Amino acid sequence: MSEGRGQWGSRLSFVLAAAGSAVGLGNLWKFPYITGMNGGGAFVLIYLVCILLIGLPIMIGEVLLGRMSQSSVVGTFSKLSGGKPTPWVGVGWLGVATGVVILSYYSVVAGWSLHYVWLALSGGLSLAQPEAFGELFNATYTDPGINLRYHTIFMGLTAMIVLGGIQGGVERAARVLMPVLLLMMAALLAYSTTLEGFGRAVDFVFGFHVESITGEAVLEALGHSFFTLSLGMGAMLTYGSYLSRKDDVIAVSLATTALDTLVALMACLVLFPITFSAGMEAANGPGLVFINMPLAFSGLPGGQLWSVAFFIPLFFAALSSGISLLEVAAAYFIDERGWSRRKAVLLTTSVIFALGVPSALSGSDNMVFGAGIHWIGERNWFDTFDYLASNWMLPLGGLGIAGFAAWRLGGKAREASFRAGSRLGSLPGVYLAWLQLLRYAVPLAIVIVMLHALGVL
Ligand code: TRP
Repeated sequence: MSEGRGQWGSRLSFVLAAAGSAVGLGNLWKFPYITGMNGGGAFVLIYLVCILLIGLPIMIGEVLLGRMSQSSVVGTFSKLSGGKPTPWVGVGWLGVATGVVILSYYSVVAGWSLHYVWLALSGGLSLAQPEAFGELFNATYTDPGINLRYHTIFMGLTAMIVLGGIQGGVERAARVLMPVLLLMMAALLAYSTTLEGFGRAVDFVFGFHVESITGEAVLEALGHSFFTLSLGMGAMLTYGSYLSRKDDVIAVSLATTALDTLVALMACLVLFPITFSAGMEAANGPGLVFINMPLAFSGLPGGQLWSVAFFIPLFFAALSSGISLLEVAAAYFIDERGWSRRKAVLLTTSVIFALGVPSALSGSDNMVFGAGIHWIGERNWFDTFDYLASNWMLPLGGLGIAGFAAWRLGGKAREASFRAGSRLGSLPGVYLAWLQLLRYAVPLAIVIVMLHALGVL
């Protein structure tokens, strides 16, 4: 029945693709820098608790809904409501829109990583002065030509892979991208352990520094656990829809969550030893990856190659996440409108590309979309999109998905599906624990995040 839509070749393929979606700029770029800004250890611990108690239950919920409906994020809500018209479909629409918004600016940041691969290969990262690395990042960020060029390349590559379909495109890419990423991160980690700053970094990341816990840090950890696991817009739901009914939803969700967390922690254990050993600060903000890494590598023999070894995985991680964002929108047109994959991918890519142009120009002095132009509050276009997606669209979508799975879905079908094919899911208490978290803890956490975004909390 689902032959026409495509299906994963194996359970491992799902895990690699889902981990490919989850592991991205969120892990390698954002997690280390927010850990640095929030003082390390305690923040990491809070983040791990959020992943376990909030992220994992939603992950299971999304994958389960997708596997039950075997259709896109919009179709899921109507199908599982018995085919009758239902307002829940709005959650699906929101998901498609969120994917479009996120990919449009995600592509721009991903583009910087590709530009840095090129810089490293062409010798552009052998700079004499330490300040020059900050200037280089600034020059990258503000250059409309660079941003537009790499935005185009990234969207083109993403579209090409998604055009290949589930097994021929998404799965094949994930089977290469994820292992390469893991290997290179492992190699960098091996190097980091030899540095004098390693001990200090371990203490920074895993030591419990109670004084650094603030309300702000808790909220940031919670919000990030959504983004890093690709939750709240049906990306995991869509990937789950290509699972067969025999597959073990609990096991694959656990594996995906574990891999994502592993890479986030590895990223910290790569970045902080290098940062400390080079005498740099952990709280360096968004430039941490683009400034600290090449600067630290520049002192090593073969420094440029180390940068290549870092920015290629960064780019690969972004690519396999971009694929999942595009697949959500494409799957909607394929499943609900009966379009060919080709037509669906070309149309969605064009729209996302166009929407991303203002983000690509956000650092420049463009008169309409440039740095001085404010859209919401003090935010330029890029920051506005990130703000709308991360603070509003994803939490709202997550609330809708959790609400539907926990309250609307028929109890019998939900429980049967939860246990189907899963030994873990059939253990006593596991189903109930999941359901209670999804019913109470998850909505409560999301409402808190939204109240915070409104400035009430
Ligand atoms: N999780 C990815 C990262 O950490 C980004 C991402 C991909 C995403 N697909 C998503 C975020 C869907 C939210 C929703 O970089």
